[in-house]
Amino acid sequence: MPRAFRISPIRAAASFAGGALIALIGARLLPPVVAQARGMARTRAGGDPVASLLADHRAIMSHLDAMVESADAQAFSRAQHLLRLKRRLAAHAMAEEDIVYPALRDNLKTAEDATQLYEEHAEMKVLLYKLEQTPKTDEQWHLHATELRTLIERHVRQEEKVDFPKLRAALDDASSRELASKIEREKALLL
Ligand SMILES: [Fe+2]
Ligand SMILES: [Fe+2]
Repeated sequence: MPRAFRISPIRAAASFAGGALIALIGARLLPPVVAQARGMARTRAGGDPVASLLADHRAIMSHLDAMVESADAQAFSRAQHLLRLKRRLAAHAMAEEDIVYPALRDNLKTAEDATQLYEEHAEMKVLLYKLEQTPKTDEQWHLHATELRTLIERHVRQEEKVDFPKLRAALDDASSRELASKIEREKALLL
């Protein structure tokens, strides 16, 4: 083969590694960017800036219902619901803690509400840890699941009935769009 057409194995490997790295970086960076644009577009059409958080609440409560209603013998089902709950709750909590609660504090000057909500997220994490550590067939697992469901139900009611309405009322159209896009970007970092 003429020398000009010969590609050394090292160069070929480097080129492949470079392509793989670009693909990897793209795969990590693209979802948040796309999600951010989607949040902006939805709110531009008159949507609710916290709509995706409301959808999370429904999904989270449905996992909790299944966990509380499960029998001690249903260890596999319990493990599956707990895993899905943790994933959904992690992305949801990150969006609220990094975007929504600071907006509550800055726009409404209601630092107490935001502080209370942060503290309740910390309580949820403690209960999730207990659920991880307790055998799925143990009746104590059911008690922890019930306690977590009660805490999250109250927390969600506070957000949906008190804090989200206050935030919606305080934001103009441009700020609503910005909030929605930031929420989507933040959630996409983990999902
Ligand atoms: Fe929350
Ligand atoms: Fe929430």
